[in-house]
Amino acid sequence: MRCAAKQRDLSAESYNGFPNMGGTAKVQIIANSSRGNDKLPRDFLLQEATKNKEENMAELSELSAKLSEIKSRIESDLTGLTSSKAVFEYKKSVMDSKEGMIGSLMKEMGKIPKEQKAEYGKMVNEIRGWATEQFDALDSKLKAEEQKARYEAEAIDVTLPSKKLKKGYLHPNTQVRNQIVDIFGSMGFSVYEGNEIETDHYNFTALNIPKDHPSRDMQDTFYLSPEFLLRTQTSAGQVHVMESQQPPIKIISPGKVFRSDDDATHSPMFSQMEGLVVDEGITLCDLQGMLDVFVKKIFGEETRTRLRPSYFPFTEPSVEVDVSCFQCGGKGCKLCKGTGWIEVLGAGVVNKKVLEGCGIDSDKYSGLAFGIGIDRIAMLKYGINNIKLLFESDLRVLEQIDD
Ligand code: DAH
Repeated sequence: MRCAAKQRDLSAESYNGFPNMGGTAKVQIIANSSRGNDKLPRDFLLQEATKNKEENMAELSELSAKLSEIKSRIESDLTGLTSSKAVFEYKKSVMDSKEGMIGSLMKEMGKIPKEQKAEYGKMVNEIRGWATEQFDALDSKLKAEEQKARYEAEAIDVTLPSKKLKKGYLHPNTQVRNQIVDIFGSMGFSVYEGNEIETDHYNFTALNIPKDHPSRDMQDTFYLSPEFLLRTQTSAGQVHVMESQQPPIKIISPGKVFRSDDDATHSPMFSQMEGLVVDEGITLCDLQGMLDVFVKKIFGEETRTRLRPSYFPFTEPSVEVDVSCFQCGGKGCKLCKGTGWIEVLGAGVVNKKVLEGCGIDSDKYSGLAFGIGIDRIAMLKYGINNIKLLFESDLRVLEQIDD
């Protein structure tokens, strides 16, 4: 008959209690052969078996007590945890397989007598499950509270008026330039960007203003060398365009120009917008039609235009274009100096000499040209009485103009 092969020595010195497992479980072979068994009385063996069972029961009930102790310890510890992070840390420490109250229980399994292992494992698993439920429940409760607190702390009142962002403004000249580009753009003009540094030839000679021409006096400028200068008029761009392309031509050319002028209405640097149309059968009527559209869009639908004979070396005939005073409607006021009209630009039919000089057949083609002072339009339109105000970057002035 086989008896329990291994048995723990339950003497007081070697057993420190269970499941603490501090003691050494001694293994004692009390019967390992039928011969040995024969030596032991049957009653003794039965007695021993019963004793073992009772002792096992005693050990398991000790474990059970230990587990209840762990449970109440966990329950009380959990009451002190106030954040999901703390729960996480605590759970980790309890379940830790080396040190943890529950984690370390499994480590003891090796020391448990075979016949107790199943029950032991079951009990440990139960407490693991129980603890996990406790941790998870507290974790979700705290997480919900934390989220609520976060939502409250980060709450945004969407009905509050927004903080006003300070908006920048385009310079009045830029606003007017863009408006003019839009108007002529809608009539099929494309934009040509000329050079601010020009040669004497393009700025003057090719525009029928030879070296000794008296009109040069009115357009004295800044010379970089006897040949190179800062352009005095965007008209210089006409020559570049006509040299490089054959009609039909329909361009506008905005940009800065420079003159040695300086008073309330003149500045050494200002802006112009050149216009040029070259095609078969172009006449002054086309000019008036286009400019009519332009002034109505800029100054209002009531505005009328008037052409006055004038002189420019590069146009023949030449005109000054006036608009009916948009302030008084033509009755006469301070702005129009009592005349009812305001001069806004120079224009004319492109001089045949200029066309020929650029290689365009003046018998076949004719052209019209005009030059608008952008600053002048801005000053008229926005009631600015000194051109310097446009260049002083005074926000009190600039912020008033948002067209
Ligand atoms: N360039 C002239 C000036 O600055 C303005 C001008 C007049 C331009 C007549 C033109 C034009 O194209 O035809 O005073």
